[in-house]
Amino acid sequence: MTQPPNLLNDDGTTSMATMLLMSHHAFRRDIARLIRAVAEIKAGDRSRAEAVRGEWEKSYRQALHGHHTMEDAHIFPDIRGKHPELAAALDTLTDQHHQIDPVLEKGDAAFADLAHPEKAEAVLNELKMFLDQHLAFEEAEITPFLRDAKDFPVPPDENMAAIYAQGFSWSMQGIAPEVVERVREMLPEILLVKLPAAQAEFEARSERVWGAYAVGSATTSIPNDYK
Ligand SMILES: [Fe+2]
Ligand SMILES: [Fe+2]
Repeated sequence: MTQPPNLLNDDGTTSMATMLLMSHHAFRRDIARLIRAVAEIKAGDRSRAEAVRGEWEKSYRQALHGHHTMEDAHIFPDIRGKHPELAAALDTLTDQHHQIDPVLEKGDAAFADLAHPEKAEAVLNELKMFLDQHLAFEEAEITPFLRDAKDFPVPPDENMAAIYAQGFSWSMQGIAPEVVERVREMLPEILLVKLPAAQAEFEARSERVWGAYAVGSATTSIPNDYK
């Protein structure tokens, strides 16, 4: 693997690259956790099977699909306009999004049938393979062009601020404290005030779904113990 990109810019500041890379970290962190959770189910511990199914159905697959949709609808057209030389890479990335969609659908069927956890195990391994390839390519080709984007969009109302705070409670878990500190500096007050409650809620959910779980201290888009 080539060196994964740092979350912070070279000058120690944050940018929209930091935000995107923290999401990628979370997708890697959580597919590793899903794989571990399904292995536990396969080994006979079904105590968290319902919670794990819910995490796939209501969170992971929705967040991943939503992330791809957001990139295709907003980030990629913007980059395409500014950097026409990236057209081929952007086309490849959008193709990869479309390759991942049917795997998510297979995942839905597999997680609905956790009596046969080997199905979910197979889908997760396939998804991880696609995802590792896709995220690394996107980070190599696209992230460098987001390093100058410094303005985080201010949520228009309290509702959106709460949704953003939920997103950050998800994407900050396992990120090194010194990086989180810089990210917080970039966030608007309307969002920051909602963060502690959102983080407490996310920690409670993590415990419910994963049982005991390790929290890393990553400075790149790759979780500390990611294989
Ligand atoms: Fe993507
Ligand atoms: Fe992405």
